[in-house]
Amino acid sequence: MAILSPSFLVGRKRYVVALSLLATVFSIRLLFPTFSSRFTFSSSFDQSLELYPPNPNSNSPKINPPRPIGSGTANATLVFLARNSDLPGVLSSMKHLEDKFNKEYGYPWVFLNEEEFTEEFVSAVRERTSAPVSFGVIPHDDWFQPDWVDEERANEGRRKMKEAGIIYADSVPYRNMCRFNSGFFFKHPLLQPYKYYWRVEPDINYFCDVTYDPFDYLRDNKKTYGFTISFYEWEKTIPTLWGNVKEFMALHPEYIAPENAMGYLSDNGGESYNLCHFWSNFEIADMDFWRSEAYTTFFEFLDQKGGFYYERWGDAPVHSIAAALFLPKDQLHFFRDIGYRHEPFQHCPRGDDWVRGKCECRSGDGLDYAPQSCIPRYERLFH
Ligand SMILES: *[C@@H]1O[C@H](CO)[C@@H](O)[C@H](O)[C@H]1NC(C)=O
Repeated sequence: MAILSPSFLVGRKRYVVALSLLATVFSIRLLFPTFSSRFTFSSSFDQSLELYPPNPNSNSPKINPPRPIGSGTANATLVFLARNSDLPGVLSSMKHLEDKFNKEYGYPWVFLNEEEFTEEFVSAVRERTSAPVSFGVIPHDDWFQPDWVDEERANEGRRKMKEAGIIYADSVPYRNMCRFNSGFFFKHPLLQPYKYYWRVEPDINYFCDVTYDPFDYLRDNKKTYGFTISFYEWEKTIPTLWGNVKEFMALHPEYIAPENAMGYLSDNGGESYNLCHFWSNFEIADMDFWRSEAYTTFFEFLDQKGGFYYERWGDAPVHSIAAALFLPKDQLHFFRDIGYRHEPFQHCPRGDDWVRGKCECRSGDGLDYAPQSCIPRYERLFH
């Protein structure tokens, strides 16, 4: 890992001022044609916009005014789990997030991989940002299938899931990743110094200028977990997850927050799971929550059930269930103003930001009020 020195950061500010002036002039013209093909994505959702008008959050949030360039001061980092072969998608994602946000804030990037990053990867990534970047290898046991997992049973689980036609059904690396993102990333030595993180993945896209610091927003408004997209999980990947969650809740009622978001997870008071989850490839959140006693106990309980390997438990339902149960519901935050796409879904803010040149997606063009979305359930928590 290498952290750039403070003197470099001062010099960088002047450079970034000039760069951002140029970017303001050219970025819209340059980027706009790239995304025009996206506009066809959503026409099928237009009707549903009328059926489910947006419910603006009743409590008026504090949003800080834009800060001077290079002045991100939150205890925060951008986290990127990637393989060497992901490099093109990594560079593309970095470009979007640097252009739309980080070129002005200069938050450090942390890259994690199950093996060493290549020199090519490291130097290409460093070219894409003037912020500090560090590269880490994931400890073996935090990534690979534990020895105590019954490989015969795991193999049988993968075979059945493949027969059922489920995406990543027979992938062990995908399961390693889900388990790592559920229980280990925030323990990595390179992430220890930080409280807040913004999760980034290859080939994602940010549509809108982020004109305030989302990390400051979380801190100033006492939020813990922020998301942009929410929909139903594929039940066949988590057949026994909710039963285990219920067992955990019975064992540890002390961890369940009084004003929790059970209404988002369940339509019958917790009897069954409605499969709603926050799509965790985007997360802006507080790692101290994942490091808390409640979450640590929860993850260890789930891990020893083996469902990350015998089934295909995703980090999205695991994170979402924990956040919805162990946090008061008003510590969850829907980042409505952050336009985001990860294939095949996206979220585009409502309002006239598109017209004013702040966004490259069409207002409201996304999953929010489509039939498979769980955003209405989230909003109902507050009404
Ligand atoms: C940042 O947050 C981490 C985790 O909460 C904490 O250990 C560390 O002391 C914080 N650093 C600063 C400078 O506040």
